[in-house]
Amino acid sequence: MKSLLRIATGGFLLATAATVFYSCQTKVQGEEKEKTKTPAVATALLQVDSTAIPNDKFGKEVKYGQQLMYNTAYYIGPEGINGKYLGNKMNCTNCHQQGGTKPFSFNLMLSHEDYPQYRAREGKVLTLAERVNNCVTRPHNGRPLPLDSKEMVAFLSYFRWINSFVPKDKPFKGQKNLSVTLPDIAANPEHGALLYEQHCARCHGKEGEGQLRPDQLTYTYPPLWGKYGYQPGSSMHRIIKQAQWLKANMPYDKATWDKPFLSDAEAMDIAAFVNDDSRHQRPDVKNFDYPHMEEKALDYDKGPFADTFSVAQHKFGPYQPVIDYWKAKGMKASY
Ligand code: HEC
Ligand code: HEC
Repeated sequence: MKSLLRIATGGFLLATAATVFYSCQTKVQGEEKEKTKTPAVATALLQVDSTAIPNDKFGKEVKYGQQLMYNTAYYIGPEGINGKYLGNKMNCTNCHQQGGTKPFSFNLMLSHEDYPQYRAREGKVLTLAERVNNCVTRPHNGRPLPLDSKEMVAFLSYFRWINSFVPKDKPFKGQKNLSVTLPDIAANPEHGALLYEQHCARCHGKEGEGQLRPDQLTYTYPPLWGKYGYQPGSSMHRIIKQAQWLKANMPYDKATWDKPFLSDAEAMDIAAFVNDDSRHQRPDVKNFDYPHMEEKALDYDKGPFADTFSVAQHKFGPYQPVIDYWKAKGMKASY
């Protein structure tokens, strides 16, 4: 009984520990704040302890959800043992690293409480389940999971569980992406190609094809372009978004969010090369994203646009003139 209780409350205790740690930090900050009136800065680094998953029915769903994050292709890939949903053999954790808990790696620890949410890409409010299916269809090139499927319930249970480690009232470190300074000139795919050869090809391959694991079920190094990688219309296909992620996370064995390996300009050039479809001939997806063009992300590379700039400038920059134009019209450019 005693040990059962310990397991069942383990997550809560840990979450409390994180909160306590957090409030110590903010206390100091709060004092500073009073003196300087600077806005609260996210200082808490959150940790999730998988041994604290409760040993009950909910915990069972959480565990399967965690498995799905890490071994997505094995369970629901093109030859998935529990259903064939994904069109490629990538795993969620390839981008949402450490099962969506790594800071600055498209962290998912707030998702449970952030939905339902208005999404500009669809021009409507989406539930978290619908948002999960967005990633299943793009970047995973798949078909949506039924909303009441065991897999969807598991994903949602897992997101709820990782959210229990988040302090309720304060921001935490790494929930948002690292920012990159937008260069005054367009991102340069030719320069990106050289950098790719130097820093990325040893794992992701000369043709961005990645490297399948010996069992062929998924990748040791996931692909970056071609028909088995993420498609246009995925957020990773946007240059600013990808550069922010690369800065914190790649090269895999060299970069950390607090010690990035690539400069901002290098990350932009590499993202421009990786996402240059004139070179890489990605299969196109027909899509009707952003029904309201004044809500379209700045670095989205399909028109029509609510301004007079070219597709190329939206894709590669320079972005500042576009931002200024929008500002002058009283609109807010987002990316
Ligand atoms: C190729 C990279 C990639 C893969 C693989 C991927 N995603 Fe995503 N996902 C993204 C990006 C990029 C975003 C948007 C992040 C942003 O705007 O900062 C996102 C956003 C999300 C969100 C919304 C987060 C929020 O709080 O708004 C959820 C939920 C999500 N993904 C779940 C999944 C799941 C589940 C899988 C596996 C089935 C998956 N993703 C696979 C790149 C990826
Ligand atoms: C040492 C090997 C290694 C190097 C070098 C490396 N990566 Fe990665 N990369 C990985 C691994 C492993 C993952 C999957 C991470 C995970 O599952 O946690 C990944 C994931 C990615 C992803 C997201 C998943 C996808 O396939 O779309 C992108 C984008 C990416 N890397 C780009 C790059 C770029 C650009 C460089 C060069 C600046 C680079 N990587 C260098 C190993 C590497």
